Amino acid sequence: SATSSVSIKDYSSGSGGQYNSGYNSGSNYDSYSGNNFGSLGDAVTNATKFDYKDIPNFPVSTVMGHAGRLLFGHIGSTPVVCMQGRFHFYEGYSLSACTMPVRLMKLLGVTTLVVSNAAGGINPSYRTGQIMLIKDQINFLGLAGVNPLRGHNDERFGDRFVAMNDVFDPEINKLAKSVGEMTGLKEIQEGVYASVGGPTYETVAEVNLMRVLGVDAVGMSTVHETVVAKHCGLKVFAFSLITNECVASYSSKETPDGEEVLQVAKENEGKLKGFVEKMIPHLAKS
Ligand code: 6GU
Repeated sequence: SATSSVSIKDYSSGSGGQYNSGYNSGSNYDSYSGNNFGSLGDAVTNATKFDYKDIPNFPVSTVMGHAGRLLFGHIGSTPVVCMQGRFHFYEGYSLSACTMPVRLMKLLGVTTLVVSNAAGGINPSYRTGQIMLIKDQINFLGLAGVNPLRGHNDERFGDRFVAMNDVFDPEINKLAKSVGEMTGLKEIQEGVYASVGGPTYETVAEVNLMRVLGVDAVGMSTVHETVVAKHCGLKVFAFSLITNECVASYSSKETPDGEEVLQVAKENEGKLKGFVEKMIPHLAKS
């Protein structure tokens, strides 16, 4: 997706909890990752920041609006790791490269991944600027055989075969709905996010196809990150900012563009930041 943001988006952090795997990592974190909601990074207090380019073997984000930094700090009393900028398949990285930071977070002791993204509204009732809590996902690339877990399975992270029917926690989303409403978010939606490879936006026929398939919002990220998170046992909380309404009619003069997506993300990053700040303590507890 196109915006930039910090925290929640792609890789979120785990926080709070203990985790019980065999990795040695010092602390417990919640992590956020995501999109380009750059100011989500401002939610992280006393942050120590590392440019991706200074981290050995780390990919570099090439998308405008993505800062390309890994932040370590706190949100409230919860230790967090925050990705300011994520990696997308359309940039040319393999899905395993795109999701490597999720595994890094696991190794650092993260327990919960918070993922955010900018998405196009497929559901005709969705409006630009609304938040959609992700209750389920459709992995179009995965269905076609392009999956970050394809290939050798590293048992230290998780099992060969991975259940994906229980990734998104209805209780967390219920809580998020009330937390969101308290922070002034209006008309919070809950729906199905589908990911495509990008960088092309959808044709009219593709938008209508997705409507038939039960997609509520579409983007170019997130699903491979939640796959890798589920594989290694991270808890996941994910949401989309609807940055534009997908064009489902040939008579429409509208067209999605990256500038608009970025613009809407910018306009909304303040409220997303408030939302994430309020959610983190709950996620750290649960
Ligand atoms: Cl309309 N489509 C896709 N695939 N990703 C998006 C988007 C649309 N709007 C924001 N991200």
